[in-house]
Amino acid sequence: MPSSASSDAPIGVFDSGVGGLSVLREIRALLPNESLLYVADSGHVPYGDKSPEFIRERCRVLAEFLLSQGAKALVLACNTATVAGVAELRERYPQLPIIGMEPAVKPAAAATKAGVVGVLATTGTLKSAKFAALLDRFACDVRVITQPCPGLVERIEAGELESAATRALLQGFVAPLLAEGCDTLILGCTHYPFIKPLLRTLLPASISVIDTGAAVARHVQRMLSAQGVLASGPAQPAQFWSSAEPQAMQHVLPLLWGKAAEVLPLP
Ligand code: DGL
Repeated sequence: MPSSASSDAPIGVFDSGVGGLSVLREIRALLPNESLLYVADSGHVPYGDKSPEFIRERCRVLAEFLLSQGAKALVLACNTATVAGVAELRERYPQLPIIGMEPAVKPAAAATKAGVVGVLATTGTLKSAKFAALLDRFACDVRVITQPCPGLVERIEAGELESAATRALLQGFVAPLLAEGCDTLILGCTHYPFIKPLLRTLLPASISVIDTGAAVARHVQRMLSAQGVLASGPAQPAQFWSSAEPQAMQHVLPLLWGKAAEVLPLP
């Protein structure tokens, strides 16, 4: 980032699809003066089963696009993109505030009473060295059961937050975690907060469900404040792009973002 970046420049946010809107909502709630740009790479979703090389290339493309739109900071609102691509982006843009996602292992390890924590995330996140390092660092004293969720992101992309198919899929993922005695569940993918209400219906009330959107929004606030680039507002309306057919995202925006907006094709 040029050190002269204007505080009223927008924050650029991207994800493999619409999941990152769960993070965007938290940023909007905490930082209403900030103008927001969002790219859904829905033409390449899911990232969860793609190679790290492929995801790194997508991170480069999406970051370049958001910077060309004047972004003063980048948020990788995607756990899978973060494990594959955040290090390279930080090397490439050393002056730019770049914020990634991380499954909430530390707070979950502190919260569990049973000593058993479940993690729902993509295969890519769970297989990564970054996730292994996170467990080594914060979860030595607890048992962590990991559960990849293939197919779930596609249901959420389609706006199926409560369908019978989504429910059946989720039930299959949650059952082994319950059988192992987990009392704390980490949502390690930004798509999953959208199915939290459905998930709650499948869990005993005593089980805590932890996601990281609000913590990431606070981290964005701290980074911008440290660089002296918090916006004074008023914010411009959020702008959206998709690398898939824009109509599909436009259709689910009222459900996931809370209001309708135009979605442009990613050039
Ligand atoms: N939303 C993403 C995450 O946080 C990735 C989902 C996917 O594309 O597989 O991991």
